[in-house]
Amino acid sequence: MHLQELKLTQYKNYYFDHFTFEEPVIGITGSNGVGKTNLLDAIHYLCFTKSYFTLSDSSNVQVGQEGFRLEGIFDKAGGPFKVACVFRGQNKKEVRCNELEYDKFSQHIGLFPCVMIAPDDVDIIIGGSEPRRKFLDTILSQINANYLQQLIIYNKILQQRNTLLKQYTETRRLDNTLLDVLDAQLAPAGQAIFNERKAFLETFLPLVQQHYEDISGTHEKLQLEYDSQLLNTPFDAALRGSRSKDLYTGRSNTGIHKDDVVFKMQSEPFKQFASQGQRKSLLFALKLSEFDVIREHKGFSPILLLDDVFEKLDASRMQHLLDQVCHYEDTQVFITDTHKQRLEDALGDLEVQHQIISL
Ligand SMILES: Nc1ncnc2c1ncn2[C@@H]1O[C@H](COP(=O)(O)OP(=O)(O)O)[C@@H](O)[C@H]1O
Ligand SMILES: [Mg+2]
Repeated sequence: MHLQELKLTQYKNYYFDHFTFEEPVIGITGSNGVGKTNLLDAIHYLCFTKSYFTLSDSSNVQVGQEGFRLEGIFDKAGGPFKVACVFRGQNKKEVRCNELEYDKFSQHIGLFPCVMIAPDDVDIIIGGSEPRRKFLDTILSQINANYLQQLIIYNKILQQRNTLLKQYTETRRLDNTLLDVLDAQLAPAGQAIFNERKAFLETFLPLVQQHYEDISGTHEKLQLEYDSQLLNTPFDAALRGSRSKDLYTGRSNTGIHKDDVVFKMQSEPFKQFASQGQRKSLLFALKLSEFDVIREHKGFSPILLLDDVFEKLDASRMQHLLDQVCHYEDTQVFITDTHKQRLEDALGDLEVQHQIISL
């Protein structure tokens, strides 16, 4: 799959711009603040119907304007496909593929997969559990439509349940029947998500381990484990068991929204034990594994978006990463860098066709 063209209208710093991408590797260069990250995020937006960095659509609207429009032409089997995202302000958003508007944005997810690597992604390694769940959800949502559906249901019901519990702590009045109804809806969705995560991680985590060994050039044994309250208890039983605690704390203490993936090295927590270099190796191992899994499921490469990775990565890790993804003929990679010469040198060393866009 390739993105051939991108048009941005009133999107962040782009008032109206049109780009064409002709080569498998596209280097994007320019000084700080010219819009390199914004350009990658626009591509991400077309693939996911949302920004990688922010939940709020309105922050992507150019200051002083009311809405934005993004348009991309993707080439893949059965294509070309023209994808358009239009945001008109106040939550009015439309996504179309070849002029056909989706009923639900979720129908679009996974059709044009992409993998982003951005500087703050190191949070997946050193941050709380949320960025790890998000990482997991991003992969599974792109390869498993039912997973995404269950996740949407789960999050909606969980929010309603939490509102009810919070009301109870404030008013001491409880609609028990409603809570039972919500639990009856939450349980199957949560159980389904747990089952999918568990099955997925059984093959995914060994893949990460393998990539980590390749990237770091060592046989350092990582331990990667799925951690969930549902590992030992079915979710419906766990929900019943936690109800009294939920009532006095005013929130849902049990469920797959508490899941985590634990990284360890020599039985110590990875984030405390590992050096900067080891953290980067693990991050790139996770992302390369994401790339592999999506490629295997789709039968084509997801677009790879690499934001400022030269800042973070030494030459040999960078080379390894690009070698891994560029030996597939259909891979398209976007790489940003502030140093034009460094980017040109790095891409020149690669035996792959590339173009440089100077912003
Ligand atoms: N909503 C917006 N409207 C106009 N400009 C914006 C908006 N959001 C961000 N910007 C501008 O985008 C620029 C940052 O772009 P970014 O892609 O992060 O740059 P780079 O990655 O090249 O350093 C800043 O100059 C910022 O002022
Ligand atoms: Mg940037």
